[in-house]
Amino acid sequence: MRIIHTVREMRDYVRGVKLAGHTVALVPTMGYLHEGHLALMRRAKERCDVVVASIFVNPKQFGVGEDFERYPRDMARDARLAEEVGVDAIFNPPVEEMYPAGYNTYVEVEKLTEGLCGAARPGHFRGVTTVVNKLFNIVQPDVAFFGQKDAQQAIVIRQMVADLNMPLEIVIVPIVREPDGLAMSSRNVYLTPAEREAALVLYRTLQRANGLIMAGERSVPAVLTEMRRMLEAEPLATVDYVEIRDAGDLSVIDTIQGRVLVALAVFIGRTRLIDNLLVEV
Ligand code: PAJ
Repeated sequence: MRIIHTVREMRDYVRGVKLAGHTVALVPTMGYLHEGHLALMRRAKERCDVVVASIFVNPKQFGVGEDFERYPRDMARDARLAEEVGVDAIFNPPVEEMYPAGYNTYVEVEKLTEGLCGAARPGHFRGVTTVVNKLFNIVQPDVAFFGQKDAQQAIVIRQMVADLNMPLEIVIVPIVREPDGLAMSSRNVYLTPAEREAALVLYRTLQRANGLIMAGERSVPAVLTEMRRMLEAEPLATVDYVEIRDAGDLSVIDTIQGRVLVALAVFIGRTRLIDNLLVEV
């Protein structure tokens, strides 16, 4: 497995791969890999001849006071895990390689980025779409893989790719969970043992919503009220948002019909966790 730090070397590598007639997959990540990331890489390997995983903690998608500096990093461990699942090359540029002095260009997807995590984290999706656009231009993959864990991110990236006629396919991979239901996240390492236990309230609340909907409840306010009640009963939890939106375009809905996204963001202590469930009725 190659570990590549510069744009020039990445382009040379991909040129060689494409000249040999191979298809290229890209799995963008911020590293500190877990089974969620590895699931994306395995899917990528099944689908394409060559898999490039990027590991770049992107400063442009972190707000002031967020965790950019203390975001967990462990390149040696990441390299080992990526190699085990068949990744061919890791793209791990320093910040100055991606954003040299004088950097001035941003990609912004409107509307879809206004609510949910976009409202809670101003500028976050502008940072995500900008770096993903750059990664697409550097690696020029045939297929790129993203996780359903970041449901809004997946929808925003699909929209960017469609709107800007980007010549690649986007594949969304289901959420990978710990055995007890907690969605895997690099940020789970921030949790104390008590917080780790309290964090189960996210998945339990999503399951309760699913149960209500399966039992015939169609009122969005009714389901949200019950979800809030459960979350607020957990002393270590502070709700950031709980929402039910149309799963296709994230539009606000009052009645549950078709495919809906039940999404939440909750602080467990000082750690902000997100999770979601797709429900179809
Ligand atoms: P990161 O949080 O490292 O996640 C990288 C990819 O892994 C994303 O597509 C995310 O949705 C997916 N992922 C994370 N946890 C998952 C889980 N439990 N199950 C399935 N997939 C999971 O998302 C980012 O990085 C960044 O915003 C990035 C797209 C790399 C741009 O900087």
